[in-house]
Amino acid sequence: MAAVDRRTFFKGAGAVAAAVVGAQVLTACSSESVRGYGGEPRALPIPPADLGSREGTSVHFALDAQTGESQILPDVTTETWGFNGTHLGPTLVMKKGDDVHIDVTNNLDDMTTVHWHGMKLPAIADGGPHSPIEPGQTWSPTWTVANDAATLWYHPHTHGLTGLHAYRGLAGMIIVEDEVSEALDLPQEYGVDDIPLVLMDHRFLDDGSLDEEDLPDLGLLGDTPTANGITNAHFDATTTRVRFRVLNGSNMRFYNLAFSDERTFQVIASDAGFLDQTADRTTLAIGPGERWEIVVDLEPGEDVTLESVGFKNNYGVPDDEFVPDFGMGDSFQLLTITGPAEDAAQTSALPGVLVKSSEPDTIDAPERTFIMNTFSINDLQMDMQRVDVVIDHDQPEVWVVTNDNSDWPHNFHVHDARFKVLKFEGTDVELFNDGWKDTVGLPPGATATLAVEFGHYPDPQWPYMYHCHMLYHEDQGMMGQFVIVNPGEEPAAVLGAGASSGSMAGGEHEH
Ligand code: C2O
Ligand code: CU
Ligand code: CU
Repeated sequence: MAAVDRRTFFKGAGAVAAAVVGAQVLTACSSESVRGYGGEPRALPIPPADLGSREGTSVHFALDAQTGESQILPDVTTETWGFNGTHLGPTLVMKKGDDVHIDVTNNLDDMTTVHWHGMKLPAIADGGPHSPIEPGQTWSPTWTVANDAATLWYHPHTHGLTGLHAYRGLAGMIIVEDEVSEALDLPQEYGVDDIPLVLMDHRFLDDGSLDEEDLPDLGLLGDTPTANGITNAHFDATTTRVRFRVLNGSNMRFYNLAFSDERTFQVIASDAGFLDQTADRTTLAIGPGERWEIVVDLEPGEDVTLESVGFKNNYGVPDDEFVPDFGMGDSFQLLTITGPAEDAAQTSALPGVLVKSSEPDTIDAPERTFIMNTFSINDLQMDMQRVDVVIDHDQPEVWVVTNDNSDWPHNFHVHDARFKVLKFEGTDVELFNDGWKDTVGLPPGATATLAVEFGHYPDPQWPYMYHCHMLYHEDQGMMGQFVIVNPGEEPAAVLGAGASSGSMAGGEHEH
């Protein structure tokens, strides 16, 4: 794969530590509820790129979920979970058209699952709550990559425990390449000018362990932001143009990305692939589960910081004592950046047009309504044996999704699908929603009208999910199931492998 240079597959910390000259003392711009600064910045770790083992278009990957110890905070050891390592996971690199086989082995003491977020694929390979991997077991899904080039990700989808498992570190990025992405004049040298950036937030107990107590109504909202698994991360650019693939892997936190000097940056891709055209922004909201690819130009030697700045109007969440603090007003640093050396090559203009525009045809499309309110969707909570939606055709649908809470944010994610946001109403909050997405943010009162295009793999027995991607909400049951069948076919009487069933009521947190 031309885009990835094997020599760059190191973990960033050791290999580029010598380059950390910009060890400026960080000035905390944090609000009181966000911490994690102080000490020397550390080099941004780059998750290893994993190309799998390839024979033609057949590619094998192996992921081992395991426990380990990590330094999320400098000089503090924290027990974490990771794939093929102690924390987070490798970046899986695949190409459209590949036949992918993945052996996911669970070396934990707890049952988990692994879901390929954003991927169009058969439901039996989707890795939702119906696909538990017991300790010691290996689960081996396989599918053909149908997605266009995009930044996707993988994470657990364990019934009632997704938030906790992701918080402990089970998350990794997936890069899908295609002929379009490889031909575009964009930074694409992984770890050099094409940089994965996994954003999370944590809380710590005094002994350095993760604080895993759910805050009332907020779940695992952290007070300590991290980038690729560490606080206070620094990136020394070697090029004048850098592409960041930003993933919000947080449980509950929304970020409002901006640079410290309010510079303009270019958005090139949303959750599910390239925008038709690059878009200039100075801020960019990213909610749990979402991805954006951005490009920023850097002057030689300059220092600039990627931050999250408080949302204008608090993201529509009333700022009073009756509403829990979702952290919408927080401002904090995500990544300090130093520009390249004086002699770094100058870049030419970015391609204005990235892909040929495509729109789903929604004339005559079936329309469905989803009302989200406090842990339920259409007044129902997740039941692993209930089918909420049956799709018996291969056409796009219009899904009208409303956040019916006047004081809580939500967002909405659909498996096996990508969508365009046709309309966004009911709120004064302006969100940038261009391009193909699979997760959309919903401020209080917002209604998003989505044109949804599904992967078509009819199977009456295995369901897909749609849900709030604020993981505490998801784990509390704010999720439903859809099944794709052939015309006239009914979903199976028993879903998935059959044995487990039950609603989320009562919760199943083990900790
Ligand atoms: Cu990222 Cu159903 O999940
Ligand atoms: Cu998903
Ligand atoms: Cu929600």
